[in-house]
Amino acid sequence: MKKNPANNIESHLHESRVFKPHAAFSKTSLIRDMATYRRLHRESIERPQVFWKRASGELRWLKKWTKLLEWKPPFAKWFLGGKINVSDNCLDRHIEGPRRNKAAIIWEGEPGEKRTITYQQLHRDVCRFANVLLRNKIKKGDRVIIYMPMIPEAAVAMLACARIGAVHSVVFGGFSADSIRDRIADSGATAVITADGGYRRGTIVPLKHNVDAALKGSKAIKRVIVFRRAHNDIHIEEGRDVWWHRELEYVDANCPAAALDSEDPLFILYTSGSTGKPKGILHTTAGYLLGVALTTKYVFDLKEADVFWCTADVGWVTGHSYTVYGALANGATSLMYEGAPNWPDPDRFWRIIADYGVTVFYTAPTAIRAFIKWGDTWVNKHDLSSLRLLGSVGEPINPEAWMWYHRVVGASRCPIVDTWWQTETGSIMISPMPGATPCKPGTATLPFFGVDAAVVDDNGREVPADVGGKLVIRKPWPSMLRTIYGDKPRYRKQYWGDFKGWYTTGDGARRDKDGYFWIVGRIDDVLNVAGHRLGTSEVESALVSHESVAEAAVVGRPDELKGQAVVAFVTLKTGAKPSGELREKIRSHVAHSIGAIAKPDDIRFSEALPKTRSGKIMRRLLKDIASGNSITGDTTTLEDFSVLTRLRDDEA
Ligand code: WT7
Repeated sequence: MKKNPANNIESHLHESRVFKPHAAFSKTSLIRDMATYRRLHRESIERPQVFWKRASGELRWLKKWTKLLEWKPPFAKWFLGGKINVSDNCLDRHIEGPRRNKAAIIWEGEPGEKRTITYQQLHRDVCRFANVLLRNKIKKGDRVIIYMPMIPEAAVAMLACARIGAVHSVVFGGFSADSIRDRIADSGATAVITADGGYRRGTIVPLKHNVDAALKGSKAIKRVIVFRRAHNDIHIEEGRDVWWHRELEYVDANCPAAALDSEDPLFILYTSGSTGKPKGILHTTAGYLLGVALTTKYVFDLKEADVFWCTADVGWVTGHSYTVYGALANGATSLMYEGAPNWPDPDRFWRIIADYGVTVFYTAPTAIRAFIKWGDTWVNKHDLSSLRLLGSVGEPINPEAWMWYHRVVGASRCPIVDTWWQTETGSIMISPMPGATPCKPGTATLPFFGVDAAVVDDNGREVPADVGGKLVIRKPWPSMLRTIYGDKPRYRKQYWGDFKGWYTTGDGARRDKDGYFWIVGRIDDVLNVAGHRLGTSEVESALVSHESVAEAAVVGRPDELKGQAVVAFVTLKTGAKPSGELREKIRSHVAHSIGAIAKPDDIRFSEALPKTRSGKIMRRLLKDIASGNSITGDTTTLEDFSVLTRLRDDEA
């Protein structure tokens, strides 16, 4: 273990196993050796004009761009002067050639329905639904909330927005009415696209009902378009709500893709920060599309016959960038599954892989750890020989989980791409090239083309090998976020405030002697629960909104399955008495106000919280207590020492 005095970031992992790509895989791959990777990476950094001019030729432009980049830190514009449409690139381009009748989306519903939608059919569905949007007076620049189950219509809704230049903001179907309400207010959305319900673990998630609750008392939303999926009873508000299938009766399939500016907004996606409300990450058109198209092609070493399955819900950025936009921009077949991995049995995923001959499988470490727990027999029951490449994303993958994934799922045959990126980066930033990069379990290895990543100390100096520091990106890149929607000062401060002109990722990392990046985890107060970011302050706000709670502090504790578990320290208002029942009530209250993902695993009642003299809660101490560690480090700023002993006593 080495410690860097300039920032206190420690790195504990030691891993010496190396897995070189098999020759047979390399032979047919796009990047076959490290020399090619290094040459292209160097070119992308040193001669960006040359690299991006060639790369951008992979997209169809309605008007060629004239200027590559305008960089007025921290604001970037890419491919200036260009006109382009994401939906045109994902659909129209393919139906003009041999992919016309190729499956664009293969879908399986949780109850077992199967649908295969060809590029031509998807194009028609998107054009018709884009006309439905126009008919409902939704136009370019309008913000549209999409709150859908994992069904093809979620992709149709996104692509239809992209087709006319409306800005979508997908809200994960597991989020609550309060979360929808906040996102509507922040984005200024005027329309919602939803479904009556969706299936999850055998029950119906009442999506439309949640939308109704979110819209109560507000006139901001003029139109709600409802897709009939689960046939559950719903309320239709006359004058505001319309059925998707009824609307289709009024439109034809003729809807030319709008010629949008390279920098026209494509979507807003909310993600957690350490303070305050979730941040609306804004992505624009051309740079984002190029980022996802290029990374899908090279990181997954895409082949024409691939069946690509990214298991992420479209409510997360991974679903946006890889299930929908990256896959379709490449004319690939993208698989979508609606429900839970263990429904009806823990082998649902393996069954799907075998049934459809999935070739590339991209999932999260939290899922992998669950598979390990459920046992190898579920995996071994199925013929997974179609798989040729595996991917991981969302959090650091523990070396043992990597080994299991490699051995049991990949039969020691498939390379694994451990891909590091963020909602903000839009597309994969650090990842192996599967045909070239020797992999070590637990590291995302090396930066993608155009990515100038570094690990630095608090003074911005690169740290020596195996010393921890802050992960930064020293140059703008095409798929970077453009701002936090409606909050430029926060954008500037959050991401560009530490080092002039450099992007701060919020992650701690180290590089080994081969230059590989090892992500240590977040350095801010952001938790990573099951591969998703959760702001401690969001959970704290939800906690104190409960009538019995006076004050709350939330920290993470290492968790075998979810990466981090949510531990809440709670002080009660006078009159309220700690009890098991109250604990359960508070837990459901948080689930109700944010979503099940934020539900504290553990609530500890306490008479007081450890604070500094200036009133700041000392989370470091709470973290130690939550993880059962002895308290280390400086406690001299603590206002009241007896709090610590009391907190520990409460535990006993
Ligand atoms: C944070 C971003 C972007 C996809 C899903 C999460 C962590 C993500 C890895 C990885 C280590 C990773 C980081 C990052 N993370 N991928 N391969 N290895 N850590 O998106 O919610 O925006 O979270 O997830 O901490 O900052 P997100």
